[in-house]
Amino acid sequence: MSYEKIIEFASRKSLFYPAAEIYPDSPAGFWDFGPTGHAIRRKIIESWRKEFVEREEMLEIHGSQILPEQVFMGSGHLKSFHDPIIQCIKCKKFERADKILSETLKKHIPEATPLEELNKLMSENKIKCPKCKGDFSNVSYFNMMVESIVGRGEIKTYLRPEACQSIFLNFSRMVKTMRMTLPQGIAQVGGAFRNEISPRQSITRAIEFAQMEAEVFFDPDKMDEVENWDEVKDYKLRILRLKSSKVEEIKAKDLITKKLVPGKLIAYYMARTQEVWHNFGIPLEKIRFREIDKDERAFYSLATFDFEVETSLGWLELIANNYRTDYDLKNHAQTSKTRLEYDDNGRKIVPHIWEISAGVDRTLFAVLECAFTEEKERTYLKLNRKVAPFHCAIFPLVNKDKMPETAKKILKDLRSNWMEASYDSGGSIGRRYARADEIGIPFCITVDGESLKDKTVTLRDRDSTKQIRIKIDDLVPTMRKLIFENKELKNFGTLI
Ligand code: GAP
Repeated sequence: MSYEKIIEFASRKSLFYPAAEIYPDSPAGFWDFGPTGHAIRRKIIESWRKEFVEREEMLEIHGSQILPEQVFMGSGHLKSFHDPIIQCIKCKKFERADKILSETLKKHIPEATPLEELNKLMSENKIKCPKCKGDFSNVSYFNMMVESIVGRGEIKTYLRPEACQSIFLNFSRMVKTMRMTLPQGIAQVGGAFRNEISPRQSITRAIEFAQMEAEVFFDPDKMDEVENWDEVKDYKLRILRLKSSKVEEIKAKDLITKKLVPGKLIAYYMARTQEVWHNFGIPLEKIRFREIDKDERAFYSLATFDFEVETSLGWLELIANNYRTDYDLKNHAQTSKTRLEYDDNGRKIVPHIWEISAGVDRTLFAVLECAFTEEKERTYLKLNRKVAPFHCAIFPLVNKDKMPETAKKILKDLRSNWMEASYDSGGSIGRRYARADEIGIPFCITVDGESLKDKTVTLRDRDSTKQIRIKIDDLVPTMRKLIFENKELKNFGTLI
């Protein structure tokens, strides 16, 4: 499946499309989501919330997106959150030096390569602008934070470049007011903003995007005290080790014996992460954790495993898993002159942090690509039921003989039982099935002539296209079993 195909599909079905598209000079890197795209995106967030926030008993917060400059002095972003950039002297286009070098030399040039080294590589290899063959300027650093003007600009502020900064700023308040004990995850879903030099590849490299972040605070001396360890210890993770080209399946417990991670807590959360993203509908063979070398890691991380998914764009990083140690709390404590500590029965410690920082939009992109299915007769989204935009669609076979009234009553019933249902009465029944399949609705309910006589309807399964006849009174409990218990349709009623 090509990247162009998914973008064409996304645009045709209004899943996502450029923001302010009716104005021709709108900047790249900003995206809107139509009703179906927004619904799938929301379902991904809801599933993440159920699996991470609720099951892992995390505290969820919602922090401000605009923060004062001091925060980014404390976090280190003002000093270190930059890209090495070059500008074409002829066409004036900006590019990332590491990217242009990697593409031209066909080998990976890390973004953390020192400026002198990058400049040397640029001139030794006589790198020219790929667009107009013009010469490039020298490499310089460009800070990627997006500045904002608040009031008359007396206080310098920025849009946060990573959602997690709000979590670190909330730490001492959570300790004091939420009876927080370690280990404890604090989670947040929200916007992040980065001045990407060349925003491209649609929602996967945008200026405004959303992150689902979980920061797990723990005592480094108790990293192996993990309550639910037995649930994951034999779970196999797909790991691409440094300098290896082959993914290995390694049990969570063996990540520790092989010294790939420093403790059980990290192996536990890596296992849970793979499990949750696999449950979004991403096949295991398209998943890997890539161990990241020192010169490629973020400035705050002691160990990083990028969670990547194979897409039409190649292996795409969906989640940064970082061992941030006490970096953030120590630096914010120093800059803000506040104590950011945890009292463990009189022993004062600065907790360490394991970060699971997931991109909402990249997850949406990967989920859509994995679900996109082309068969001889039809194209449809084989979405996992939990992330489908609706649980079911309801159709009256024809718009007469009281069928619309019955269908609307069913719709009302389902909705009042918290099932998400859509209604479609336009065009042939075949076209309506096709429209529902195309956006991934897992079940269709059709009211026909029989329905009025025997109080039954047909219930059709998207993937197999099989149908059963079912009593209207049984619809709500059946739909609940199908959606929330992931039961199969064949377990209910008689196939017709
Ligand atoms: N708090 C750590 C952090 O922000 P990151 O690797 O910079 O780490 C985490 O970002 C995730 O956020 C990425 O794995 C990706 O899914 C998403 N992300 C980062 N930059 C993005 C961009 N420009 N557009 C869309 N998603 C982005």
